[in-house]
Amino acid sequence: MRSDSQTFPNLTTCRLRLLKRYVKFPETCCVYIVKIRCAIPRSLLRGTSSVLAGIYFLQSIIALAGGSGCLKCHEPHYVEKGACVGCHRGNPRTDRVSIAHHDLIPAKYADFTMEGSPVVKRGGKLVETSGCRRCHVSGAKGNRLATNLDRVLSAARPQELFNAIKIPVVFMPNFCFKETHIIEIVNAILAGAARTEPEAGEIPLVIHFENKKQAEESVFVKHCGSCHRALTARFGGLGKGDIGPNLSGLFSEYYPRTYGDNERWSSKPIRKWLDNPREVSKNAQMAPVKLTSDEFSRLLEIL
Ligand code: HEC
Ligand code: HEC
Ligand code: HEC
Ligand code: HEC
Repeated sequence: MRSDSQTFPNLTTCRLRLLKRYVKFPETCCVYIVKIRCAIPRSLLRGTSSVLAGIYFLQSIIALAGGSGCLKCHEPHYVEKGACVGCHRGNPRTDRVSIAHHDLIPAKYADFTMEGSPVVKRGGKLVETSGCRRCHVSGAKGNRLATNLDRVLSAARPQELFNAIKIPVVFMPNFCFKETHIIEIVNAILAGAARTEPEAGEIPLVIHFENKKQAEESVFVKHCGSCHRALTARFGGLGKGDIGPNLSGLFSEYYPRTYGDNERWSSKPIRKWLDNPREVSKNAQMAPVKLTSDEFSRLLEIL
């Protein structure tokens, strides 16, 4: 392996010089044939007399080595685990860094490629405790109220995912994570996506904009929307308040267990909470909300 890493950069440099000089000073080309020989094992060049054949050889040897023009500038690592582009993407068939790095997965987001990575574990924990799955599918689990994060590996760049978590859209809560935590989370998302086979015939996310009027008149918007938001399967995003928590997926198993002693939210707890939050949690800031039983059942349908 060691000898490969030292040979390939030399090979490529030879090739470049050869091309330039050959066009300008054809009479000097034999000098460069000698140069090529110093980099390629003699046996490979035996019988090739033309410069073009030499170039052809160089290219095919580089191609055989996994197409890795990456090694022109980088020391190899993790060679036993596969090609550079298998973990980092990028384009190995070029010497130009801007093209080689197209769509690159930078080092800090590459941990997701490593089996049992502690970075991925820490990120996974944060995804779990923050309740990301109350809105997103990640690692084949979760509600489908927002983008399926298992599909972002091919569609989005890691940095874009970072930005989407750092400065979230209106209906995604701002978790105010530290940057190192976001990097861990992005690695966990990518690891989940890499593990998950794309499903055939996935149910697309449907947001019913045609129900706008109905949405505006909904119990949620009227009685909760000034303080809360929620993404709903039937009406899309409802409410505009950020004083209270985002209630998306409240009754699903992915919502954090914030009721009582680590319990899940369901119709009984929410009724009790609305009647008197202080009875459930001594320091609750939310005031009681009086709903008729008809309004209450419509609220359950929405959430
Ligand atoms: C022409 C030289 C050149 C080639 C070819 C090249 N790189 Fe790089 N690469 C660099 C330089 C210089 C840096 C450091 C500066 C930077 O980040 O752009 C770098 C940085 C990197 C980093 C770290 C970036 C980060 O922010 O974490 C990775 C990963 C990487 N390269 C992978 C690759 C892969 C994979 C290929 C092949 C597909 C490749 N490079 C081809 C020159 C090159
Ligand atoms: C199995 C996945 C994997 C493969 C294959 C792989 N890398 Fe990496 N690479 C990583 C990870 C993970 C990091 C983050 C730091 C670390 O773990 O070393 C990284 C970091 C880097 C860096 C940043 C500098 C550094 O050493 O920290 C460069 C540059 C780089 N890789 C280039 C390459 C090139 C070139 C190849 C092909 C020879 C390659 N990588 C193959 C996973 C991989
Ligand atoms: C209340 C619902 C909700 C919660 C909880 C939530 N998100 Fe989001 N997230 C959204 C919405 C809405 C978008 C915008 C894209 C869309 O409409 O699906 C989004 C977008 C994203 C994107 C960008 C996806 C893309 O397509 O580029 C990432 C990454 C993301 N969220 C990660 C997270 C992570 C990590 C967590 C947990 C820490 C989280 N989200 C929690 C609603 C949510
Ligand atoms: C005037 C503002 C306001 C209104 C209106 C309001 N809430 Fe709240 N709600 C809050 C605040 C603030 C919290 C934060 C927890 C607390 O009270 O300490 C909260 C917390 C909650 C929680 C607990 C969530 C958790 O994860 O801890 C639920 C559930 C909830 N509200 C449901 C509702 C529903 C359903 C409605 C409408 C029927 C509603 N709220 C109306 C302000 C409001």
